[in-house]
Amino acid sequence: MLGGAVAGAGLTAYAVWEARQYTLREVTVPMLPVGARALRVLHLSDLHLTPDQRHKADWVRELAALHPDLVVNTGDNLAHRDAVPAVIDALGGLLDVPGVFVFGSNDYFAPVLKNPLRYLFPDDGRRNTADTLPWEDLRAAYLAAGWRDLTNRVDALEIDGVRFGFAGVDDPHLGYDSLTAVAGQADETADVTLGVAHAPYLRVLDQFAADGYDAIIAGHTHGGQVCVPFVGALTTNCDLEPARAKGLHRHPADSHDGDPDSSWLHVSAGLGTSPFTPIRVACRPEATLLTLTARRP
Ligand SMILES: [Fe+2]
Repeated sequence: MLGGAVAGAGLTAYAVWEARQYTLREVTVPMLPVGARALRVLHLSDLHLTPDQRHKADWVRELAALHPDLVVNTGDNLAHRDAVPAVIDALGGLLDVPGVFVFGSNDYFAPVLKNPLRYLFPDDGRRNTADTLPWEDLRAAYLAAGWRDLTNRVDALEIDGVRFGFAGVDDPHLGYDSLTAVAGQADETADVTLGVAHAPYLRVLDQFAADGYDAIIAGHTHGGQVCVPFVGALTTNCDLEPARAKGLHRHPADSHDGDPDSSWLHVSAGLGTSPFTPIRVACRPEATLLTLTARRP
């Protein structure tokens, strides 16, 4: 009995420690036209920042030294009603880089205390929408920095002579996604096309892949957050299967580059957690530097 309690306390202490082990993951994605120069895309997701999380904010601030060509922020920035200035301060020099963003449920609504194991069970459909957060202030700050809001819209950016085409949806976990608003073939004049969403629900991935987007970028899953060592995630908190809870995959999962209706899929395990469950196991908090390279001739 006592041994079990000690072991449980030890595991909890470990899991709280791991939730602060911020990690930069680097991935190469061969998705550009033959002969194109490499581009570096920094994918940030799920900061869940509170004003007192200095260590996390300092770690994020250092990412500007990577000098990415583009930042993609897939939402869940906030975990406190006073966190907008902290997020803007943490992003710092990254706001001088071209960027695109969508929001997640944790930009719109404040976190609430709930059973920390609830997310391991099937989705009961309940969503916390009681206490709103100042997402409009965050949006205004991003727009003032020149970042593009991809909430249920398409857009394009030219970065150093490379034309990016984008489509994004509002948070599918809340049912806010308007797939009709972004339906249609990806921009054929673009050198690279990205579909962006907070939560990687299959209906969104299916449409972006069918519309010819080269890659789909998403967060939300926290990589499973509490994973089984050497086994992986148990849940994604959406209808994506746990095997694709984080990292670089294809969509559909069994497709290959060059197949029709197939895209790259990058899911970030994110940098944060709910402030009420600040734990991770076998799933480090992460940002990802995606180096986009030319396809093989
Ligand atoms: Fe999140």
